[in-house]
Amino acid sequence: MGNCLGSSAQVDNFNSNPTSASGVSKVGSGGKIGHSSNLSSPIVSTSSVKSNNQSLPTARSEDEILSCPGLKAFTFNDLKTATKNFRPDSLIGEGGFGYVFKGWIDEQTLCPARPGSGMVIAVKKLKPEGFQGHKEWLTEVNYLGQLHHPNLVTLIGYCVDGDHRLLVYEFLPKGSLENHLFRRGPEPVSWGTRIKVAIGAAEGLSFLHDAESQVIYRDFKASNILLDAEFNAKLSDFGLAKAGPTGDRTHVSTQVMGTQGYAAPEYVATGRLSAKSDVYSYGVVLLELLTGRRALDKSRVGAEQSLVDWAKPYLGDRRKLFRIMDTKLLGQYPQKAAYTVATLALQCLNPEPRSRPKMSEVLEELKKLQDLKNANKGFKNISSPMRSPMSNHHSPMQFTTSASPLSSHRQSPRVR
Ligand SMILES: Nc1ncnc2c1ncn2[C@@H]1O[C@H](COP(=O)(O)OP(=O)(O)OP(=O)(O)O)[C@@H](O)[C@H]1O
Ligand SMILES: [Mg+2]
Repeated sequence: MGNCLGSSAQVDNFNSNPTSASGVSKVGSGGKIGHSSNLSSPIVSTSSVKSNNQSLPTARSEDEILSCPGLKAFTFNDLKTATKNFRPDSLIGEGGFGYVFKGWIDEQTLCPARPGSGMVIAVKKLKPEGFQGHKEWLTEVNYLGQLHHPNLVTLIGYCVDGDHRLLVYEFLPKGSLENHLFRRGPEPVSWGTRIKVAIGAAEGLSFLHDAESQVIYRDFKASNILLDAEFNAKLSDFGLAKAGPTGDRTHVSTQVMGTQGYAAPEYVATGRLSAKSDVYSYGVVLLELLTGRRALDKSRVGAEQSLVDWAKPYLGDRRKLFRIMDTKLLGQYPQKAAYTVATLALQCLNPEPRSRPKMSEVLEELKKLQDLKNANKGFKNISSPMRSPMSNHHSPMQFTTSASPLSSHRQSPRVR
């Protein structure tokens, strides 16, 4: 897919309305935060984004965005046929903004194909909820039409037909990280896979942040990290993405949008958005990978509802960390590496955005862990296997309970 170079300039009028935390509202079941839009036109600004050494336009009209040569404009009928009429048995997921269906198209012509033949696609059908939905749909077409990287999901095309707004993506067979970490059913995710996913997602974010004109992703969370058959991570959902600050500016002031539990506190409080807001959200996902707990879990009581509040006291203490580690790992993780990841998470969650590391720095640290693991592979037979902290006496459930500061007598996993 090539980059689409448009020429017309449109004003970015999303930037002028910082809002206070008290004004934040929730939308949808997924704990989305945001404000209903009072914007006057569906304008998407990319503020001269550059990536892949290509200059992207300052701002483009809807026509320019939709005529991106790498994207196919599907008709609604095409997608109806490709998904077996959006039948419930084609449904693979549901989010706050729409339903996702599995479908099939011909690899060459991209025309609908017989179910089970050709290329598998994921079709997101937005709930018809007016202008805000259209704006995010267009933002996603704009960014994903232009940004290409192995750790970003590939957008194949779109459909605009009356009130219908759809997006057509490559199909990621393992679904989202959220499904693997929190839902019952799939095999527990191993430590090595967690690190692989963390690295892939960090690669995706670094690519966005380090583009010649920065892109802030704004909705980094487990459900937006999709996984291919080999657990390579790909970021999806660019509806909230935003051009980063230019010149000497440290942030852009914008509407507070995102997902509760993941959004950086200073952004929620002031509307000041920077790449460091993404870094905070990344820190939350690192915690989810370590603990197997959701960023926000209303089914828990008190301080345990917020993963950050609950986990923070344990992250900087090597001897306490094992108490919050995901029991589904059954202790099968290198303690030293877990501590490194916990320390990184703590740095990403620093309340002061300037003190958070850059994504490229986080990535570098995580890659060292993977390199170390690969280097140790040859010595597998002589290195001590990891022992579960509860393997002697305790079941995983008991271990979960022991994550309370009151019970500090349990044995921690051995260092590898
Ligand atoms: N390209 C894809 N390939 C495979 N599964 C996908 C794909 N895109 C989405 N899904 C599945 O559909 C689910 C719903 O995705 P969607 O982006 O609509 O919602 P969400 O991320 O869960 O929530 P939100 O509305 O807050 O973004 C995902 O969690 C994933 O399981
Ligand atoms: Mg999503």
